Amino acid sequence: MQCSWKAVILLALASIAIQYTAIRTLTSKPFQLCPVPSPQNCGLLGGPETESPIEGRAGCDDYPYFSFNASRKTHIMVLATTRSGSSFVGQLLNQHADIFYLFEPLYHVQTTLIPRLSHSRNAADRRVMLGASRDLLRSLYGCDLYFLESYIKPAPANHTTDKLFRRGASRALCSLPVCDAFGPTDANVEEGDCVKKCASLNMTLAADACREKRHVAIKVVRVPEIGDLRALVEDPRLNIKVIQLVRDPRGILSSRIETFRDTYRLWRIWRATGRRPYNLDLSQLTVVCEDFLGSVSTGLSHPHWLKGKYMLVRYEDLSRNPLLKTMEIYDFLGLPMDKSVEEWIQTNTRGSTELSAKHKYGTVRDSAANAESWRLKLSYDMVEYTQATCHKVLHQLGYKAVKSADELKNMSLSLVQDKTFVPFS
Ligand SMILES: *[C@@H]1O[C@H](CO)[C@@H](O)[C@H](O)[C@H]1NC(C)=O
Ligand SMILES: *[C@@H]1O[C@H](CO)[C@@H](O)[C@H](O)[C@H]1NC(C)=O
Ligand SMILES: *[C@@H]1O[C@H](CO)[C@@H](O)[C@H](O)[C@H]1NC(C)=O
Ligand SMILES: *[C@@H]1O[C@H](CO)[C@@H](O)[C@H](O)[C@H]1NC(C)=O
Repeated sequence: MQCSWKAVILLALASIAIQYTAIRTLTSKPFQLCPVPSPQNCGLLGGPETESPIEGRAGCDDYPYFSFNASRKTHIMVLATTRSGSSFVGQLLNQHADIFYLFEPLYHVQTTLIPRLSHSRNAADRRVMLGASRDLLRSLYGCDLYFLESYIKPAPANHTTDKLFRRGASRALCSLPVCDAFGPTDANVEEGDCVKKCASLNMTLAADACREKRHVAIKVVRVPEIGDLRALVEDPRLNIKVIQLVRDPRGILSSRIETFRDTYRLWRIWRATGRRPYNLDLSQLTVVCEDFLGSVSTGLSHPHWLKGKYMLVRYEDLSRNPLLKTMEIYDFLGLPMDKSVEEWIQTNTRGSTELSAKHKYGTVRDSAANAESWRLKLSYDMVEYTQATCHKVLHQLGYKAVKSADELKNMSLSLVQDKTFVPFS
């Protein structure tokens, strides 16, 4: 048997190669980085569910619940899309003394991971973005604000930053002990004042403030469909309640045209000239309607994983009857509504026109008039086109189509059908 020794050597070599590969594989995995379990160095994330492409915080399996009392905290998510009234709903939560509120933290994920695209439909981009988003949300609901730092540019030094997106929209981040520029009696700090007067945001203090509050609420406009959140909703460590906010797509379109003037430039040209530009980006409209349709169909089909955790709110209903709707929302959340929420509604929904254009993302406005003002701003052929593109979701949500320009401009004719969406309990 002349070649047997050769076979033995070959076998030995092969086995060394295999072992080498195995060792490499094991050691190149991101390792447990939690020498001392504590809120500071151990997030909620853990093992197999961790999807974030940013490494370094994986692991911590032994210590997943550091500061968490799942039976106590409610993790509220306002799921919406831009210009659907989500800032308004966010404020209804932000004003509550027991709620720690964050305004769209996923902004940082998007700008870091997919800087070139704001409405990416690319499947791979979308998967990456969603995985990272779920990870981040999971951490933030556990008050692990350090996790957000991986996405903030420039990277925070010594856990402080002045680049947190819309910090001023979060009451807890503009008041004691996180910011000492205002006294305890300055109940409603303006967003701009907060940014101007508060020192850099100390993320340690912010995380402490989050833990101090009974509940956490996060506004999210960068998750396309509720189905994308299933892993989060089913996570036993969380106690998620989703408030899905919808709005008439015709109203969203009109509002975006006013607000995002560059991105929606061609729509303005259409409106001004009466002619649809050939290179108009129709996905700016179709994406809204497809996502709504997907989300709402899922939500209203009452899948078991959403039981007790889903409420659909039409912005128009909220505008018409803010106090009543807000009570329903708090009912659904199982939380008592507090006086500051009520006061905020009183001062912000009767709206004087002087205040209305104050801020691009402002919430101070006459909400009822605002919800249908798109009818006076869009041309009839734009409306007709939108109705054709979005007819399924219009029907599903109870928004009436108009058949003529006269109907469109006749404000004594409501386009919002009475329709009750009972929370899925
Ligand atoms: C968690 O909350 C429940 C209900 O409020 C309470 O009874 C329990 O003591 C809390 N546990 C911890 C560890 O704080
Ligand atoms: C961070 O803190 C260290 C130690 O206190 C200090 O030396 C350093 O200058 C700080 N870095 C920045 C960017 O403030
Ligand atoms: C942030 O706050 C923590 C807790 O009070 C404090 O220990 C830390 O020094 C602060 N960081 C900076 C950079 O001031
Ligand atoms: C507006 O609609 C109402 C209700 O249908 C109708 O009575 C009224 O005549 C309409 N006004 C105009 C100017 O068409």
